[in-house]
Amino acid sequence: MRVFVTGGTGFVGREMLWRLSEAGHQVRLLTRDAGSDPHRQLAYRFRAELVEGSITAPRGLADRIRGCDAIIHLVGIIAESKHTTFQQVHVEGTRAIVQVAREAGVRRFVHMSALGTRPNARARYHQTKWEAEELVRESGLDWTIFRPSVVYGRDDGFVNLLAKICRLSPVIPIFGPGTNKLQPIAVEDVARAFVGALEQPECIGKTYDLCGPEVFTMDQLYDVILRVTKRHRLRAHLPMALARLQAGGLEWATGLVGKQSPLTRDQLKMLQEDNAGDAKPAADAFGLAQLPFADGIAKYVK
Ligand SMILES: NC(=O)c1ccc[n+]([C@@H]2O[C@H](COP(=O)([O-])OP(=O)(O)OC[C@H]3O[C@@H](n4cnc5c(N)ncnc54)[C@H](OP(=O)(O)O)[C@@H]3O)[C@@H](O)[C@H]2O)c1
Repeated sequence: MRVFVTGGTGFVGREMLWRLSEAGHQVRLLTRDAGSDPHRQLAYRFRAELVEGSITAPRGLADRIRGCDAIIHLVGIIAESKHTTFQQVHVEGTRAIVQVAREAGVRRFVHMSALGTRPNARARYHQTKWEAEELVRESGLDWTIFRPSVVYGRDDGFVNLLAKICRLSPVIPIFGPGTNKLQPIAVEDVARAFVGALEQPECIGKTYDLCGPEVFTMDQLYDVILRVTKRHRLRAHLPMALARLQAGGLEWATGLVGKQSPLTRDQLKMLQEDNAGDAKPAADAFGLAQLPFADGIAKYVK
């Protein structure tokens, strides 16, 4: 198949390219910067065709998609910045890519959402991911939607950050009681599910949770990371009000220079919620490896 991939230069996307090329698919890869060396090297490595464009400025995108058999739509942001909002990227971006898919006559559409997405979600991230899902469901395309819990892998932003805190800080700060549940999934399994979906017409019109085999609280997640890295640390549970104050300050400061904040109040809302789901349907349908979390992170967390 010839597959058009959006977000293929990102953390999940790079694993997707590997899995697609392994399965013998040809990739056309969208990026906002086709001239960058890392992006060119990535395209070269997987014999992908690199095309420049943005889903938030979609003029001419239909021409770049034409001739493909399927679209894997991964683009998403975890925090807003002055010039890029969830509404623009998740909602308007998905609206645009669905529209150009129709124009270009590409019917198969595999969409990246997120666990916790629902109507009236508390966080803007989840609200806009829900709106994007609705656009996909109403698109008339042959869609499949995936909703991962937190995704981990060599270049992830989450487990690597927790591991860094464990390494550098004598006391681990945990926002709130740390009792909310997470069900981390390996990036290899996420890619396996997407590529499997391309090959299985039975999963058209279905939405799958993508979760690992174990559920952890934030405290337990730290336990595993500390065990794997053979460290001992004290914990300090910080009041959420303090965390919100810190996030608000960071948002203000990074906003001044038009950058994304490393911590936002929207993320804190998500961190207070459970992020666990039903792992079985996707695991069965796509033969996911479902490696224990400790074994998965031991490959890259030092
Ligand atoms: N990581 C997780 O734990 C996790 C969990 C659940 C769901 N997800 C979802 O999975 C998806 C991928 O996440 P990730 O962690 O791989 O993200 P990432 O590493 O930040 O990559 C984001 C990708 O989006 C592309 N992009 C951003 N804005 C774009 C635009 N306007 N037009 C075209 N491309 C654009 C970037 O490409 P260029 O910079 O090359 O243009 C990049 O390839 C997102 O939808 C995210 O919400 C992630």
